[in-house]
Amino acid sequence: MQFRCLVDNAAQGFSKILNSKKLTPVATTPTNINRRRFFALSGAGLALGLPGCGTVATQQTSPFRHGVSSGDPLADRVVIWTRISTDVERDAVDVAWQVSTSGRVVREGATTTTAASDWTLKVDVDGLTPATDYTYTFTALGHESVIGQTRTLPTDGTAPVRLAVTSCSNWIAGHFNAYASIAAIDVDAVIHLGDYLYEYGNERAAGERRHDPDHEIVTLDDYRKRHAQYKTDPALMRLHARHPMIAVWDDHESANNSWRDGAQNHQTEEGDWAVRKAAAIQAYFEWMPIRGFPTEPEARIFRRFRFGDVVDLHMLDTRLYGRDQQATRGDAQTINDPARTILGSEQRTWLTAGLADHGGRWQVIGNQLMMGQLTYPDRVVLNPDQWDGYPMSRRAIFDAASVNDIDKLVVITGDIHSSWAVELSRDPYADVPERIGVECITPSVTSPSARERSVALERERRLIDELPHVAFVDQTHHGYLLLEIEENQTVAEWWFNPSVDAPSDAQYLAARYVTRGDKRLERLPS
Ligand SMILES: [Fe+2]
Repeated sequence: MQFRCLVDNAAQGFSKILNSKKLTPVATTPTNINRRRFFALSGAGLALGLPGCGTVATQQTSPFRHGVSSGDPLADRVVIWTRISTDVERDAVDVAWQVSTSGRVVREGATTTTAASDWTLKVDVDGLTPATDYTYTFTALGHESVIGQTRTLPTDGTAPVRLAVTSCSNWIAGHFNAYASIAAIDVDAVIHLGDYLYEYGNERAAGERRHDPDHEIVTLDDYRKRHAQYKTDPALMRLHARHPMIAVWDDHESANNSWRDGAQNHQTEEGDWAVRKAAAIQAYFEWMPIRGFPTEPEARIFRRFRFGDVVDLHMLDTRLYGRDQQATRGDAQTINDPARTILGSEQRTWLTAGLADHGGRWQVIGNQLMMGQLTYPDRVVLNPDQWDGYPMSRRAIFDAASVNDIDKLVVITGDIHSSWAVELSRDPYADVPERIGVECITPSVTSPSARERSVALERERRLIDELPHVAFVDQTHHGYLLLEIEENQTVAEWWFNPSVDAPSDAQYLAARYVTRGDKRLERLPS
């Protein structure tokens, strides 16, 4: 917080905004304010209690307790987000925002937030310049937020694209050191592949970090409280303030192993799944820097981002939108049922159409589940929750890659709490596999790996060692995946944190692979 007359600055800012004929605030949360209401609510003219201001504070403590974030960058726009925490009960709070580049304000506006959105607010700031770094701030109740940094996407050109890829941060499993590491590096965007939060209570809490509320989250109020808690993590707050995020959910933003009409971790005594699912989705859209709200037809969780002439990023939802229920292990008849889907027909059509329009760019599919085969030698799948359990859906993607002559396909994956580099093919056990692309799987931020949970049986360890299409696997460490994508090659780096037992941004490079549009992976020195 800078000690200056923020009320005066805020009032001047609002005055400038309100006198401007050109500026149309593009608030996604509700109504724009009028001058009288602003002065009534913000308390311009009341005391701020800061040195030199000579007035009384409208609120003693900063209302920006959950930081700021940005997300879903496009070439001309980006979503900026914050949340207002008030010390006293209010009907509404007016919030001003500014977006700047090179020290010059280029967009500004005002909006209002209320309890209807849990006091969160998002602004889809348009009119921006491609491939440009911006800063943004919010002002409310006499206080100014921290300064956020963000970046728009390029419309053309072949400048390298750097993406940090992350998933699976369980609050009670340790400190979010991967987020601290990502906050300290330069990337174009952070890709979050889900399990941003976990629905569990504290039965599995081992250390001092405990979930709030102290029980499995089920209601809208529960989901909101859990999002609020995660947004107070210092490392996560730094990451959000530093980079734009492109996020999708996995299962734990609702409940473990969720699918369209249920979840493994949803029991009938917990109420109607449709109500719980809607609550989880609403809280996600309120608290994440993602475009729109679930009631808006254009606010789809699956969406696409183009980074100039280098990358198309297709972000998938493999959980709540279209997935049929998971089969049980060994139930080959159900698993191979051609009518079963993991994406749903609309999302599958959307994805295959996007892949057909590849234009020679890298096609990166951001998804939750391991796409490479993980089967016993007798072809029995280890985990029917993964793409192995939906082979017909996987085949549709592989067909789209083949039919459209895509040479540069990279699938990025979370969920499995371990690091993998996989060469994708229709049948990796064939004498001459028909190659499709590569898959890079990020380790978890904190969520226990199979080895930590002591469920990686020796039999599975030996099996994985013998899988012909797995170039690299680590089932122990936490960290993140870093992609550097150039026109003719993609380098994938696995960065590990030495520990998650105490806050730290220490990291080391564990593995480095390159793929050059030949659907193969080559290890590089690390
Ligand atoms: Fe997870």
